[in-house]
Amino acid sequence: MRFSFDLNATDGKARSGIISTPRGEIRTPAFMPVGTAATVKAMMPHSVRETGADILLGNTYHLMLRPTAERIDRLGGLHKFMNWERPILTDSGGFQVMSLAALRKLTEKGVTFKSHIDGSKHEITPERSMEIQRLLGSDIVMCFDECPALPADRDAIAQSMRLSMRWAARSRDAFGDRPGHALFGIQQGGLERDFRSESAQALIDIGFDGYALGGLAVGEGQAAMFDVLDYAPDMLPQDKPRYLMGVGKPDDIVGAVARGVDMMDCVLPSRSGRTGQVFTRRGVVNIKNARHADDPRPLDEGCRCPACRSYSRAYLHHVFRSQEIISSMLLTWHNLTYYQDLMAGMREAIAQKRFAAWQSDFEAGRAQGDI
Ligand code: GUN
Ligand code: ZN
Repeated sequence: MRFSFDLNATDGKARSGIISTPRGEIRTPAFMPVGTAATVKAMMPHSVRETGADILLGNTYHLMLRPTAERIDRLGGLHKFMNWERPILTDSGGFQVMSLAALRKLTEKGVTFKSHIDGSKHEITPERSMEIQRLLGSDIVMCFDECPALPADRDAIAQSMRLSMRWAARSRDAFGDRPGHALFGIQQGGLERDFRSESAQALIDIGFDGYALGGLAVGEGQAAMFDVLDYAPDMLPQDKPRYLMGVGKPDDIVGAVARGVDMMDCVLPSRSGRTGQVFTRRGVVNIKNARHADDPRPLDEGCRCPACRSYSRAYLHHVFRSQEIISSMLLTWHNLTYYQDLMAGMREAIAQKRFAAWQSDFEAGRAQGDI
């Protein structure tokens, strides 16, 4: 069985479809929980599935350092290792090197760096990134790219984007032909329309199974990101999935889907679960706040998750304040459920051609605030 994408419905620029892989279907628009170190922190894999996730994201950078790609391969691959049999997308490593590693050196060949864990020296090239992602058994492999820190001048953004496009061609060659597995290109070009267009053309000329929008959500703010998303997705093929990397807050996600994005990932719902920040239909709630201490109501009346079905705000406040492990478990479960229900709501609204009305309801709920 090959990798394929079927667009089932569109409403304005919003799209809904199915990505088919040998490990299962991915309903789009899709949100991918982040499982950086072969775990979605504080969640069992079957619970992640119960939230509605069809696919997880894993990280080349973390796994190559610990426990190493070769060890995961010897143990039967990442799916078996972490007990998640459904699709996994892996990021290629460059973005994480730039944000986490020490003593980074960037050359035409690739990047060398020292591990943030033990200071050991490593190199990732496009070829090595493809090898690591193959050893992991990743279903959707990302090209090795470089994401420049913003703000940067136009010349630096162009040089960086063109390097990423040369690496995209090398990634394509090194990936080869692997039926059932997909390789996605990553568009770069910062906030510059002409460079976004040049990057999209370079990727289309190489040819990929899907196309990511990279280099966004790196501090430019939502308005600047939406300006790019107003035109950049249209530069990518209509018949292939479009993946916005590292996004975002619920309103970022809704705005991205409205602009033609099919897939997203972000640590926000899982990380916030561990810091007491909760996403609800009425906006963000901080469970640490003293106003929850005596509150017998659930976090979110409309939520089907165990934190909302079986526990009060008072309990969740107590276990958070007491730093009990169940606090991270319940709040992560809630946040991931909220994100997946958000995606399901959008998929249904797009299929029924009422996305604009759905979006107004979404915004009205948040405007109300938590009461
Ligand atoms: N994650 C968030 N943004 C990016 C990006 O531009 N490139 C890669 N590889 N990963 C990302
Ligand atoms: Zn809930």
